[in-house]
Amino acid sequence: MKILFLDQSGKPGGAELCLIDIAKPYRDRCLVGLFIDGPFRHFLEQQHIPVQILGTQSLQVRKSSSLLEGLGSVRQLVPMIAQVAKTAREYNLIYANTQKALVVGALASFISRRPLVYHLHDILSVDHFSQTNRRLAVTLANRFASLVIANSKASQAAFIEAGGHPDITEVVYNGFEPELYDTPESNNPSLLRQELGLEEQFVVGNFSRLSPWKGQHVLIEALTHCPSDVTAIFIGDALFGEQDYVKQLHERVKALGLEERVQFLGFRSNIAQLMAVCDLVAHTSTRPEPFGRVIVEAMLCGRPIVATQSGGAIELVEPGINGFLIPPDAPQELAQVIINCRDQPQHTATIAHHARNTASQRFHLININQQITQLLCQVVETNKKVLVR
Ligand code: UDP
Ligand code: GLC
Repeated sequence: MKILFLDQSGKPGGAELCLIDIAKPYRDRCLVGLFIDGPFRHFLEQQHIPVQILGTQSLQVRKSSSLLEGLGSVRQLVPMIAQVAKTAREYNLIYANTQKALVVGALASFISRRPLVYHLHDILSVDHFSQTNRRLAVTLANRFASLVIANSKASQAAFIEAGGHPDITEVVYNGFEPELYDTPESNNPSLLRQELGLEEQFVVGNFSRLSPWKGQHVLIEALTHCPSDVTAIFIGDALFGEQDYVKQLHERVKALGLEERVQFLGFRSNIAQLMAVCDLVAHTSTRPEPFGRVIVEAMLCGRPIVATQSGGAIELVEPGINGFLIPPDAPQELAQVIINCRDQPQHTATIAHHARNTASQRFHLININQQITQLLCQVVETNKKVLVR
């Protein structure tokens, strides 16, 4: 089976990192078409996955776009749709990994008569998207997609709630290679802890792009309710132009006098090593998280995880069994979990150990990729029958 993957982003967000894992087994018979160049291309190239840049400019449709703004970008879309439709004739299937990829992929699929699969990495709710964007995504998926792979039950439910056809959806969680999170370096964090000046500290790590809804501010506020040996490290960058938020975070740290207890380390690729220096990983999204790769990654690293009780996180974390849950935007509750973990290391380690064991089975990439391959084969087979008729 030959697959044409489409993704609108040049940056390595969670949806893009997930795509790398899905495309890897197909690297000798797939192409990833990106709408814009950027570091994500290098990530794909490092894995020897063929990649082609389809456009020279990012499409100007934002999550909050109105219908008029959306239509304004149609002129940009037409040449790209033509290019994708032509390329798609060499492939058995178009796999759209993002919303703008769905727009292009849907029309290209219609022209090229290749089936379309849409990997839904978003919660299509009013919290995240304008009504126009929700309608557009659902209408295109209903009309053109043979299959919508939702990254969680929460994403699937929001799709159906927004008018999506239930019978075209399947839930497939992100897959991971547990070995990558259990390395000699990640099992011996003392050197890195020393380099970062974190000895004698209780370290809380936040691993997310810097963005208001990822809630880094919640962890900063929580520190004010914690003993002074509790330190936070933030790993991640503003990937989608949230520079004002970054400035606000730095100002808040200064205003609260927390400069000695907070470090912003920027985007890093050695996630397992950095998680290993943490005594607790805090996922702080203030809006429902569609899946939350970092939650599973913390589990695979054997680090205790506290996550926000909404969206996909609820499917991943069983409180008191494999992690902890707090309400969204609740610094005091977060502080309480931090203090409990600090004061009860034995109990916390047992929970983290259990989480590691269960997550390495439940989210193993081999199983997840098998599920995806099976679903894609069904789509291609069904499409063959339709074309023959
Ligand atoms: N990540 C990374 N480097 C960073 C920060 C994050 O590689 O500096 C990775 C992180 O390990 C995770 C992904 O980016 O795999 C983020 O995915 P998630 O689903 O947690 O959130 P998203 O940003 O996609 O909404
Ligand atoms: C998106 C979502 C995130 C999810 C990732 C992979 O980036 O925001 O929650 O984990 O896709 O599916």
